[in-house]
Amino acid sequence: MQNDIVDVVANRPLTGGHFVLELYAPRQAQATRPGQFAMVRMLEHSDVLLRRPMSIFDVRASAANGKAARNGAALEIIQLLYKIVGRGTRLMALLKPGDQVELLAPLGHGFFEEEYLAVAQASDEILHVAGGIGIAALLLPARQIARAGLRQRLFFGGRTRDDLVGTEDFENYVEEIVLATENGSKGHQGFVTAPLEKYLAGHPNERFLLMACGPWAMLRATVDLARRYGHACLVSMENRMGCGLGVCLGCSIRVEGTGHAAYERVCTEGPVFCAERVIWEKEEIPKI
Ligand SMILES: Cc1cc2nc3c(=O)[nH]c(=O)nc-3n(C[C@H](O)[C@H](O)[C@H](O)COP(=O)(O)OP(=O)(O)OC[C@H]3O[C@@H](n4cnc5c(N)ncnc54)[C@H](O)[C@@H]3O)c2cc1C
Ligand code: FES
Repeated sequence: MQNDIVDVVANRPLTGGHFVLELYAPRQAQATRPGQFAMVRMLEHSDVLLRRPMSIFDVRASAANGKAARNGAALEIIQLLYKIVGRGTRLMALLKPGDQVELLAPLGHGFFEEEYLAVAQASDEILHVAGGIGIAALLLPARQIARAGLRQRLFFGGRTRDDLVGTEDFENYVEEIVLATENGSKGHQGFVTAPLEKYLAGHPNERFLLMACGPWAMLRATVDLARRYGHACLVSMENRMGCGLGVCLGCSIRVEGTGHAAYERVCTEGPVFCAERVIWEKEEIPKI
């Protein structure tokens, strides 16, 4: 993990207030593993003190080295796929080539091959399930799984068609991309878990590994389906974060265990967890 001041190479707008930010960060790009994230701090904005966590969407060679990179040459660019939701991301959207940000990366415990590949290989197919900007955590794992020669499929849901960004990057890796929007503007109308359930119900004799990232409610519904149909499931969580370094405990979630062992930090033990270990019922805060 390195904390560097890095240059913006590009900041490309997509639909629905989404952007792809490219940062020149060779040391961090080369150290990145699938499912890890970065903390971005906007320089010269004292009102946005906290770094903002962003999944590392992709790592690439710079355009000048693009040809060489396909042959395994050095990765230099970190890509973040983000959506404007507040002050920090609004400022990110104003970044232009040559500007600088502070980048702390790579962070967290991601989709690590040595932990899931045996389960993936024993499965008939890997099902990625993304809700909204959760898609950003799944491209690097999809590439890793494609390299292992395994079959995979993407289920991707958003509020409207404008939320369904980044899908073209998955096309080389997955058999099919199943889309859903809450307003029916693209794909199935409703939550992404509806076509997912239909697929699981239609393939009762197949074994799947589910990899999901998105809002809490979507993750919970996905985990319920995995449990009901008897499939393994890994989730990448997007809890709000303070430090990103395991110090403030602000990102803690409840997991199986007692005492201190009943809490784990999304920034350090996560963001990827085995779904079975997470306690999905929200804790009632006692009234005093
Ligand atoms: C591990 C991790 C990976 C993430 N990856 C991405 C990514 O790849 N792309 C991306 O666009 N976003 C990602 N996020 C969410 C992103 O960090 C927040 O959207 C961002 O910090 C908001 O900053 P802001 O200053 O614009 O908004 P704020 O002004 O801080 O908040 C604006 C609104 O967004 C809500 N919000 C803020 N943070 C979160 C969060 N973590 N989850 C849900 N709602 C939130 C607030 O409750 C508030 O309603 C990730 C979060 C985590 C923890
Ligand atoms: S964000 Fe501070 S401990 Fe995780």
